[in-house]
Amino acid sequence: MSSETSTLTVDNKPVDLAVKEGTIGPSVIDISKLYGQTGMFTYDPGFTSTASCESKITYIDGDKGVLLYRGYPIEQLAEHGDFLETCYLLLYGELPTAAQKADFDYRVTRHTMVHDQMNRFFTGFRRDAHPMAIMVACVGALSAFYHDSTDISDPHQRMVASMRMIAKMPTLAAMAYKYHVGQPFVYPQNDLDYTSNFLRMCFAVPAEEYKVNPVLSRALDRIFILHADHEQNASTSTVRLAGSSGANPFACIAAGIACLWGPAHGGANEAALKMLEEIGTPDRIPEYIAKAKDKNDPFRLMGFGHRVYKNYDPRARIMQKTTHEVLNELGIKDDPLLDVAVELEQIALKDEYFVEKKLYPNIDFYSGITLKAMGFPTSMFTVLFALARTVGWIAQWSEMIEDPSQRIGRPRQLYVGEPQRDYVTVAQRG
Ligand code: CMC
Repeated sequence: MSSETSTLTVDNKPVDLAVKEGTIGPSVIDISKLYGQTGMFTYDPGFTSTASCESKITYIDGDKGVLLYRGYPIEQLAEHGDFLETCYLLLYGELPTAAQKADFDYRVTRHTMVHDQMNRFFTGFRRDAHPMAIMVACVGALSAFYHDSTDISDPHQRMVASMRMIAKMPTLAAMAYKYHVGQPFVYPQNDLDYTSNFLRMCFAVPAEEYKVNPVLSRALDRIFILHADHEQNASTSTVRLAGSSGANPFACIAAGIACLWGPAHGGANEAALKMLEEIGTPDRIPEYIAKAKDKNDPFRLMGFGHRVYKNYDPRARIMQKTTHEVLNELGIKDDPLLDVAVELEQIALKDEYFVEKKLYPNIDFYSGITLKAMGFPTSMFTVLFALARTVGWIAQWSEMIEDPSQRIGRPRQLYVGEPQRDYVTVAQRG
């Protein structure tokens, strides 16, 4: 915190505004009293210059391409840690000791089953329902099944709800997949680790023995780590806003999943793979680069660009490495989609338009190729993102609930509609 102030001149009168400093990163000008002082709001569509909260969870330096969870670089966590350890770190602020880790893993594992009545809930959906539609509904529906963990004023209930969501998300995601492909649900097997259990629930069938491939399990676990949190992005802000009204945590996370679904956000991994498939062969890349640069064409290179990263997304580098590991393990020597992706990246990184606008590959550029090779259909990609991001949403929601200065989120607007006017009856309307 600093005693520094910044002065704004409104109607020729100086208005002093406090400046707050973070531990790293840009300081903020505190405008919370501005309306009272000047009768004016600030205007910032898309919140490009607005910090909505204080947070101790995740830090991004978009210019340098740095991502830290609780101070730890994403590269180190992805290389040395596992997903549940990352969950613990995001939730509690420190890496767990061996005993804390064993206890946390045990607690998560004991919550992996979902209420059996959920099975009936699934059968209400059409088989061709998008799994994200199912996830929005089913996660929201958890609040109808677990009444004993919806009182947000009780820290114990908040903790139980958090454990339940982290533990049940893979089960629900696998159920959404199984329902989609018309196979029976596979119940969790708790002697497996979190990610191996998820792979088994997705790909095992009752007719055959299923052996988890440890290389694929490790790769997917790393993908989960990469997606676990990303500070105040659209879906996290949605979760915080929903939570600020006092809504129960299951409903808040369902709201986050709905927001994540959009192609500008988590839906980009599905859109990126579809785009690579549409391009098909490297010789068609120039055509698509030209489309992306054409102001009259709504097409964008999916998996490219980011609101915060104006440098290579650090997650994209790790994802690219993971893609090669997975393809190697599966013996896929030539993947035409990977050829298109690698060449597209090379061309775009040298193109003046992309260079000038600082558009680099983001995490979604390579994730689709990896997940497809593992056997997931494109419609599941964003579900996997939601599964991994759940812990980040929960950590951010908990931080907000525990913040004594927390108030309902309520942005204002610049009204540009009709001024006040009198009602006219139908007969009098011309
Ligand atoms: N292809 C072509 N042009 C682009 C792209 C792209 N992928 N991304 C941005 N631009 C251009 C855009 O047209 C604009 O040009 P101009 O200044 O001439 O109008 C400029 O770059 C700035 O773009 P913007 O839309 O104002 O930037 P934003 O910060 O509002 O949007 C974004 C960020 C991620 C939504 C955008 O880059 C995009 O749509 N990318 C493709 C979708 C995607 O990959 N999303 C995943 C993001 S990472 C995972 C996640 O967070 O969920």
